[in-house]
Amino acid sequence: MAKLVINPNKKVSKINKEIYGHFSEHLGRCIYEGIYVGEDSPIENVNGMRCDVVEALKEIKVPVLRWPGGCFADEYHWKDGIGPKEGRKKMINTHWGGVVEDNSFGTHEFFELCEQLGCETYINGNLGSGTVQEMSEWVEYMTFDGVSPMAELRAKNGHEKPWKVDFFGVGNENWGCGGNMNPDFYANEYRRYQTYVRDYKAGEHVEKICCGANVDDYEWTKEVLATCFNHSQPFQHGFMDGLSLHYYVHPEGWDIKGSATDFDENVWYKTLNKALYMEELIKRHGVIMDEYDPEKKIGMIVDEWGTWYTCEPGTNPGFLYQQNTMRDALVAGITLNIFNKHSDRVKMANLAQMVNVLQSVLLTEGDKMVKTPTYHVFNMYKYHQDATLVESSIETETIGTQEEYQVPNLTESVSVDENGVLHLTITNLSVSESYEVDAAILDREIKEVKGEIVTEEMHAKNTFEEADKVCVKEFSDVQITEKGLKFTIPACSVLHVTVK
Ligand code: AHR
Repeated sequence: MAKLVINPNKKVSKINKEIYGHFSEHLGRCIYEGIYVGEDSPIENVNGMRCDVVEALKEIKVPVLRWPGGCFADEYHWKDGIGPKEGRKKMINTHWGGVVEDNSFGTHEFFELCEQLGCETYINGNLGSGTVQEMSEWVEYMTFDGVSPMAELRAKNGHEKPWKVDFFGVGNENWGCGGNMNPDFYANEYRRYQTYVRDYKAGEHVEKICCGANVDDYEWTKEVLATCFNHSQPFQHGFMDGLSLHYYVHPEGWDIKGSATDFDENVWYKTLNKALYMEELIKRHGVIMDEYDPEKKIGMIVDEWGTWYTCEPGTNPGFLYQQNTMRDALVAGITLNIFNKHSDRVKMANLAQMVNVLQSVLLTEGDKMVKTPTYHVFNMYKYHQDATLVESSIETETIGTQEEYQVPNLTESVSVDENGVLHLTITNLSVSESYEVDAAILDREIKEVKGEIVTEEMHAKNTFEEADKVCVKEFSDVQITEKGLKFTIPACSVLHVTVK
């Protein structure tokens, strides 16, 4: 029997809704086909955006969307993607498959998409191959309401009023595809470029995200922060609002990666063990951030995370298209529980990527669309958005098939929403064992309990032929006890319990 203790009166931190954010890059079939099909497409669309995809994404309440990359961002010149479509430059997408990028999805289309989704906007600027002027003019184009060359250009292109840019990334992976910079060099570039990312509207701050580390590159975090906050640049509002972190789970390492669908129990636990590593990364980068920002004003922005497998056989290797199974559902559930538990520092996270790329929530093929197991986890966890994390702890057992890839059998996080409703999300990492959970909920009278669950055998997935093999099902076996709740969580599952 696993003992879970929840103290709803011990409020820990706000779980920013942005932790449930997404990422869409000009990569493979994410933007083109997956989201944007163009106004003349036979696929039902509104202003070029697929209706089925938009509707599905609204259901999970996408809070924020990052665009246009990724590696693509530091090669993207935004002026190529505005104005009449027939006149837009065609370019090579060098990073991703060498295909032609016709720029038919640009700034205006991105804001149209976010308007349809009702989500915040996170634009990633080009520091690697773009100029300070180019970055500065993009911000002016998007946000300035008045007389200026960029505001005029925007109006000429059909959008009189400015948009709201909520977050702006000053480069992406500048230690790698974004210019192969060393930390000191990048940090000085960050200081310079961010100066010209202006707030044009009083009271509307564009939150600036500095490029953070790849995985466990703690040196990068140290040196970037040291240079950024050196030379009379103490912490001041608006200089740096976030520092990013990228971490992908490759079950068999970066070179081999491993199949998305064909894996055994060893690889199952190895994958989950690697997903759990996110917690150590957050803690250790967090300790370095604390030195410069003890009040935790700078958010840790995990703006790329998820599983990255060998792409589906027969597909373009540059397109990073992969299937999604119950293993991905567990990775999502585990990772989101970690983010919730560290929501004092983690202020945003963006799953890579939204449609048809890496750990997507949706897959499309022509006019067909399927919701992946990961989608269903996001749908159950959406109740944590903007809720308050409360103190909880669970007794766990260590399980696994190999000594070096052991994992706890259960992970959990608990929040209380604005109506006082409590949401417990709990994952069972075991392939074969179910566990009884005895939950004590301190100082709380329980009136009503509801459960919903995503559970299937470990290889289960949704296909275009069988789209609902994995989905959210009602879970009614939650008993109210004198002190709280009792239930048995099935093997290989992600469970959400609502307590009123
Ligand atoms: O998400 C795919 C790629 O992974 C992104 O373009 C890049 O930032 C990262 O290396």
